[in-house]
Amino acid sequence: MVFLSGSTQPANDSLRFFAQKRGIGIGAAVAIRPLRKDSSYRTVLAREFNMLTPENVMKFKPIHPERDRYDFVAPDTLVDFAKRHDMQVRGHTLVWYQSEPDWLTANKWTREELMTILREHINTVVSHYRGQLVAWDMMNEAIADNASLRDTIWLKTIGQDYIELAFRWAHEADPKVRLFYNDYDSEGLGAKSDAIYALVKDLRQRDVPIHGVGLQMHVSINNPPNPEDVAANIKRLNDLGLEVQITEMDVRIGSGTENLEQRLAQQAAVYRNMMRVCLEAENCTAFVVWGLSDRHSWIPSHYNQPDLPLIFDKSFRPKPAYEALIEELQRM
Ligand code: XIL
Repeated sequence: MVFLSGSTQPANDSLRFFAQKRGIGIGAAVAIRPLRKDSSYRTVLAREFNMLTPENVMKFKPIHPERDRYDFVAPDTLVDFAKRHDMQVRGHTLVWYQSEPDWLTANKWTREELMTILREHINTVVSHYRGQLVAWDMMNEAIADNASLRDTIWLKTIGQDYIELAFRWAHEADPKVRLFYNDYDSEGLGAKSDAIYALVKDLRQRDVPIHGVGLQMHVSINNPPNPEDVAANIKRLNDLGLEVQITEMDVRIGSGTENLEQRLAQQAAVYRNMMRVCLEAENCTAFVVWGLSDRHSWIPSHYNQPDLPLIFDKSFRPKPAYEALIEELQRM
């Protein structure tokens, strides 16, 4: 797979330089505020990565704030940045229970109405970016922690075929973009990853246009995913003809008993192991971290405690995890 057309030559000691040689995408989730305001953020992003995912601005609520209004300003800024720096864009995300605007949830809709809303949303957003994105996280977190279908407004009102309808509508709007099912806590083997496997297998068997599965990979040094399990999961998805991407990796170090240096070394090992699994898999095409530097990670506010889960520190200096990824990409 060719990832860069290359008008600019990546710095020959950067992540993107080595990732390009290995034929995989290396990405980061990008937040609009630092992208606009912080030149170090922009410099590191463009130097090190050949792919980006908008962290929030393409989600349903920000991009479709009123029934008849869409807001493409911020996501367009991101896509434009990517173009200028020869980076690919992963769209994120069309359907996610955590990003529902009030106009959508405050009303009672019939099945027909909700189908029209979903179809219009998908068609408008996917068409707007037609030909400009490599992938869409079409469906985000549709399986609950207990491995059953998550009880969302779409499931309740449309029924379980909302999932395949959504994939079909997205494919109609941009037949070339790769459509992903994306989820967390399902990187290795277990009840939830089995449920996702069963779901995507069924979709594939019925020729629903789904092309890949995203493994979010929000993990921690205390209970990291077992590399063999992740490899086995990626392999069984490959056997279904599906691509896999690591879509949102971060590694929490918590407050543990070991000193910081030891915890950062453990963190580096988790990043390294997952990069190795991806490189060794035939169908793993991208490795995306969920944020650029520890200054901007979503983790501290989400878990309500400080953490340092990313590969650059708060001053954008490379951490041991960064060095581990560079080494791993160079290891043949
Ligand atoms: C998170 C963002 O990082 C936060 O800034 C936002 O407040 C909430 O969403 N799984 C996903 C991502 O698919 O979209 C989430 O991103 C993190 C979990």
